[in-house]
Amino acid sequence: MGIETSCDETAVALVDDAFSVRAAFLTSQVERHAAYGGVVPELAAREHLTAILPLLEQVAGGATSLRRRIQAVAVTYGPGLVGALHIGIAAAKALAWSWDVPLLPVHHLAAHIYAARLEGPFRYPFLALLVSGGHTELVFVEGPLTFRLLGGTRDDAVGEAYDKVARLLGLPYPGGPAIDRLAQSGEARFPFPRVVLGGYAFSFSGLKTHVRHFLERAKASGDLPRSEDVAASFQAAVVDVLAEKTFRAVDETGVKELVVAGGVAANSALRRRFSREAEVRGVRLRIPPPAYCTDNAAMVAALGVELLRAGITADLDLPARASLPLDGWPLSDPYLAARARG
Ligand code: KG4
Ligand code: ZN
Repeated sequence: MGIETSCDETAVALVDDAFSVRAAFLTSQVERHAAYGGVVPELAAREHLTAILPLLEQVAGGATSLRRRIQAVAVTYGPGLVGALHIGIAAAKALAWSWDVPLLPVHHLAAHIYAARLEGPFRYPFLALLVSGGHTELVFVEGPLTFRLLGGTRDDAVGEAYDKVARLLGLPYPGGPAIDRLAQSGEARFPFPRVVLGGYAFSFSGLKTHVRHFLERAKASGDLPRSEDVAASFQAAVVDVLAEKTFRAVDETGVKELVVAGGVAANSALRRRFSREAEVRGVRLRIPPPAYCTDNAAMVAALGVELLRAGITADLDLPARASLPLDGWPLSDPYLAARARG
């Protein structure tokens, strides 16, 4: 069983040891937070609290044969909103304890990568680009549970930039899907900046600020651009930067497989561009279906299967971690390192 409550999605799923999804239920709070233009941490925790029990009831209620065969309970313990994480962790601890099965400590970003594992085995080593509302990270995955961070964003995450630019355009939260849709009927005619930092670092706050100034100037001059064209121009700049960095890393590491995961991996322009670039290089591109790109519990359970195989478990003292670096995880987490030492 996998449980996810790190942000604004409450989710519970069952995945078997062949990485097939047997059940998956999810409640999104997106509408509750939309009025505020972003996730309100206190509200998120409260909503998880009311959503989690009915979801568990749906997945594991009754004495079904599936429920009796649950071998372990995996839960996201970081990174994320601490109050939100605590709800899932408390539920997972109670279930693992009462069913007397192992509790598995799941890293939210590693789980996003494992969404791709639901579609078939990985070919190591591979690269993973994580693009979500909170993260933009390029990760080298050498083997099972061996993560090396190549680079990340210096400021805004890609999804965050999407959400902020959407707000400038008067679009509802979350802005990613709204901009994606709008951009389909627009033309990328404005040359917004492509900020390409050295190494594998990303930066998106400059682009967001540029769009803001651009819109303010346009408003002052009374010559308003079509939102469709602004959306398309912004999206083209984002996809250019992501593709350039990622495929430079593909070329430099010589990997034959690339995984793109996280909410922004649902973006249609990104999917098109990455497919093309991967094909040219003979690289296998793996992007989970949209439902497994955004936060879900199937990916949590999938990583749980891997943790169970590796014998990496937690106990009832598992902490919630607001920040949890992926580089070197699981051993880079002092809690798991101490357990490994016995
Ligand atoms: O992975 P996710 O569900 O939650 C986090 O862990 O952050 O990602 C949510 C983010 C939001 O910023 C949302 O605007 C963005 O993913 N997103 C998209 C699309 N669908 C969701 N961004 C661009 N294009 C999309 N189609
Ligand atoms: Zn996420």
